[in-house]
Amino acid sequence: MLRISKTNPEISKIRKASSIIKKGGLVAFPTETVYGLGADALNPKAVKKIFKEKGRPSDNPLIVHIARKKDVYRLAKEVPKQAEKLMKKFWPGPLTIVLKKSRIVPNIITAGLDTVAIRMPKNRIALELIRESGVPIAAPSANSSTKPSPTSARHVLEDLDGKIGMIIDGGNAKIGVESTVVDMTSDIPMLLRPGGISLEQLRKCLGKVDVHPVAKGKKSKEAISRSPGMKYRHYSPKAEVILVEGKGKMQKIREIAKSLERKGKKVAIMKMGKDHGRIAKKLFSAFREMDRKGFDAIILEGVDEKGLGLAIMNRIRKAASRRIKA
Ligand code: TXA
Ligand code: MG
Repeated sequence: MLRISKTNPEISKIRKASSIIKKGGLVAFPTETVYGLGADALNPKAVKKIFKEKGRPSDNPLIVHIARKKDVYRLAKEVPKQAEKLMKKFWPGPLTIVLKKSRIVPNIITAGLDTVAIRMPKNRIALELIRESGVPIAAPSANSSTKPSPTSARHVLEDLDGKIGMIIDGGNAKIGVESTVVDMTSDIPMLLRPGGISLEQLRKCLGKVDVHPVAKGKKSKEAISRSPGMKYRHYSPKAEVILVEGKGKMQKIREIAKSLERKGKKVAIMKMGKDHGRIAKKLFSAFREMDRKGFDAIILEGVDEKGLGLAIMNRIRKAASRRIKA
């Protein structure tokens, strides 16, 4: 683990990390959303290690991270005007843009799709690492496939200790949920995964934007091929996660908790509050903590799906085994 300053990354330390990337190794690094597990995106052997160490199915494609907007034109075959508008408005930032891929992008990254997902993160350590490495960096979230995304270096260590070349510690992730993924290869842009940039922000910039059913957290079987990652059941804590929505939710939560406790279960009630920024920032680390503490059930209330709320509800629905309308 190597501690690097996020306001003023020490160049000697960045070079240590980039030399690992250049040699085809893996480096976990902070971004503004969650920690990423990075490898040289143009080196298929290096990228293969990501899938192996994370335990990720090979049909789930990776995001390619860049440090200069102009690198998009090397990685993508076409860059529509609307995509350029997004780059201008939201990069660097928590937005991943799916475009037709160019020939330099290895098939292992895109899981055989003819598209590539690209993003420019808003974190100085990440940007310096990409720049010093001199190549785009492929990176999924740096958790093992069965765990929630890591929002601190300690979470990465819990999952990947001893498996990778280096873990950079750059403090807690600012946003706490992953980037928004938007597909710009069709006439009408399609939101594939809600995240750090809201649907409202996308619509303000682009006009009409469709929302993939899975992006809402529906477990839909149709059209999954558009973003293969979405078909995987995401992390669920060992505890049963119960989501309660609707007007009478607080009353219902108390009832469920009481009845479970009567059966001798250890029950946690997660208080959400109204500040979506704060909820997003703490959600994944709270899930990890509940697991450590050995709860049998976690009950949580739904939040309003405006702004960041859509991403929060998407992650909660994926973790929940029971959804109750009160
Ligand atoms: O915030 C983030 O996006 C973080 C940080 C590290 O950048 N990364 C991240 O990567 O969340 P990962 O691998 O956990 O999620 C990538 C998502 C998956 O849902 C995947 O299916 C989708 O992006 N994706 C990647 N390439 C795609 C493509 N060509 N077409 C459609 N979806 C794609
Ligand atoms: Mg992930």
